[in-house]
Amino acid sequence: MKDVYILGIESSCDETSVAIIKNGEEEIASIILSQIDIHTLYGGVVPEIASRNHVLNITKVIEECFKEAKMKIDDITAIAVTYGPGLNGSLLVGLEAAKTLSLVSGKPLIPVNHIAGHIYANNLEKKLTFPLICLVVSGGHTELVLMKDHYDFLRLGGTLDDAVGECYDKVARVIDVPYPGGPVIDKMAHTGKKTYNLPIPLNDESFNFSCSGLKSAVINLVHNEEQRGNKINKEDLAASFQDVVIKSLTTKTIKAMEKYNVHNLILAGGVAANLGLREEFEKLSKEYNFSFSYPKIRNCTDNASMIGVAGYFLYQKKIFADLKLNTETNDYLH
Ligand code: KG4
Ligand code: ZN
Repeated sequence: MKDVYILGIESSCDETSVAIIKNGEEEIASIILSQIDIHTLYGGVVPEIASRNHVLNITKVIEECFKEAKMKIDDITAIAVTYGPGLNGSLLVGLEAAKTLSLVSGKPLIPVNHIAGHIYANNLEKKLTFPLICLVVSGGHTELVLMKDHYDFLRLGGTLDDAVGECYDKVARVIDVPYPGGPVIDKMAHTGKKTYNLPIPLNDESFNFSCSGLKSAVINLVHNEEQRGNKINKEDLAASFQDVVIKSLTTKTIKAMEKYNVHNLILAGGVAANLGLREEFEKLSKEYNFSFSYPKIRNCTDNASMIGVAGYFLYQKKIFADLKLNTETNDYLH
């Protein structure tokens, strides 16, 4: 069979990223240009600034990717692009670039859902084996998904309010850790001790999660301690917070695996980079005897390799888009 090379383009938030993926499982080239340094100044992503920077960067990143791969557009089989969910102005830049490339090269255009992309990043490490359960934990999403086959997504539950990554970033802000706070809190948690008492959110039989109560509990705790003139031990608070997050995520995930009799677990999204979460699932996988895998850290947060992989499996299903393809900012996983 002829090798399939997918050019992936991702610009849904603050990363301008382009990658070339061979047969849905091998990264030939991957460029990620992050705008984090700019948005850190504002304490979070500013949509207008993000889209303007995508405009400045997208052509450079495409050129850089072809250079790294030592390939030309003629060597590419199809062009996959994130159409949503995400920030509209940001999505539009990647989408228009992909449409233009498709128009001038005659290569087919493949519409990729961003969350599906996060899930498919796993295929670069280990071929997806079905049925599987995927815990998607990112800055915008917290979902527990059952997959019985490629592109067969059954949402078992998800957050009722804030996403886990969003909660990490907000807690970080309360203790003066700059955006994005997730990776820093993760590091601090490893040096701190679980000394603060925080409630486990939505400790029920559903497969849903809730983060806003936990976030408020942390904010109240910090304010109360400050009012009493007590100094917060930030590392201990990070460890206490992360412990509750991990307990909540792992408990529901294990329950879902038992209920649906699934023995494969994968993680996806920015928070899948969390070392504490990985370590705990690693331990549980031995205890409950299931296979467990996750993308490498670089491919947990937003990147175009995941779009190239997800695009490959749509290519197999012959799912293409025409030049009328538009952004879907609130689109759900499908
Ligand atoms: O998937 P992603 O790049 O963007 C969305 O699609 O939302 O996820 C970004 C989120 C941020 O909230 C960031 O703080 C969080 O992932 N994150 C982490 C870690 N690395 C990134 N959260 C906890 N622990 C980490 N190590
Ligand atoms: Zn993402």
